[in-house]
Amino acid sequence: MKKIIALAGILALTVSCKTAQSSSGNSLKDAYKNKFYIGTAMDLPQIHGTDVKSDDIIRKHFSSVVAENCMKSMFIQPEEGKFFFDDADKFVAFGEKNKMFIIGHTLVWHSQLPKWFFIGKDGKEVSEEVLKQRMKSHISALVGRYKGRVKGYDVVNEAIMEDGSYRKSKFYEILGEEFIPLAFQFAQEADPNAELYYNDYNEWYPEKVKTVVKIVKNLKSRGIRIDGVGMQTHVGLDTPALQEYEKAITDYAAAGVKVNITEMEISPLPSPWGTSANVADKVAYDAKMNPYTKGLPQNVQTEWENRYLDFFNLFLKHQDKIRRVTLWGVTDNQSWKNDFPVKGRTDYPLLFDRNYQAKPVVDKIIDLTKSK
Ligand code: XIL
Repeated sequence: MKKIIALAGILALTVSCKTAQSSSGNSLKDAYKNKFYIGTAMDLPQIHGTDVKSDDIIRKHFSSVVAENCMKSMFIQPEEGKFFFDDADKFVAFGEKNKMFIIGHTLVWHSQLPKWFFIGKDGKEVSEEVLKQRMKSHISALVGRYKGRVKGYDVVNEAIMEDGSYRKSKFYEILGEEFIPLAFQFAQEADPNAELYYNDYNEWYPEKVKTVVKIVKNLKSRGIRIDGVGMQTHVGLDTPALQEYEKAITDYAAAGVKVNITEMEISPLPSPWGTSANVADKVAYDAKMNPYTKGLPQNVQTEWENRYLDFFNLFLKHQDKIRRVTLWGVTDNQSWKNDFPVKGRTDYPLLFDRNYQAKPVVDKIIDLTKSK
């Protein structure tokens, strides 16, 4: 009897050790060291150190960090001339302490923007001159503060529509297409050594690619620096097609810029409208759109894993063109996708689960580097 109990004990120990070791112990950032940076977004719980387990994962697995929210204009300059840098300071300090490639997100964007930005002292819409001056002072204050420390900025975010036309944002309505070169010029003046990027979602739609390539070429021909295009990768299991996505990578590289894979996560949940990531477009909760509240079925998990591996295989194939691959968060429980585009769902889009464990796909992503 004693023998049986002892045997059962050994068996239980072996099983539990195996579970603990389910991840090889290798890190993403070491495996990808000679390929490209592997980044993650950090939001306030990670920045303030109240989500210690996430911070441990970030230190172990990631070589780059980007501010998920705290550098957006509504937080940095909530009132004209009143700046709030506390959170951004902590974010930059974390990145520096851990020797990470720090990314600022974002300088000019139509969302998460304070209301005062387009309203003049007289209560009317601002003139061209006033808007230029406001863009300049916002960009100089933020980029200037972290000069030499933040290594790259998403200078303009989400300015082009899927059909290749310009988004009719206030920046566009008041300043026309010139608001983009102006933003890059102001950023360049504030920190001549920071890398400067144009960042957008659905940036594989052919007409959108064409306009972004045109913008890149226009800036370069005028001597205004642009170093990269950031392809937000808020994707699903079926869209986009990998060939279309690949064509965008090669087209951007051919225009003479690096490609950043930014804001990556793969949602296995149904989407009401494909892969648009315009943060204002939310729909109300609907139980039919929230099918996996108790965990992902094995077949969906396998499909999800294969999708990640397909993307990483593609990134490795084009490693000479890619500067960075950044995930939009660490663990599933803190992903914005639980509330976007449908509020209150249980999503599974990231590489680490709700118990802060690396999903099996992490080791598989690491293993891909052995042959490429
Ligand atoms: C999202 C954040 O993840 C959320 O926490 C916030 O509530 C809304 O914005 N495109 C972008 C990101 O460029 O800044 C957005 O981040 C997601 C879509």
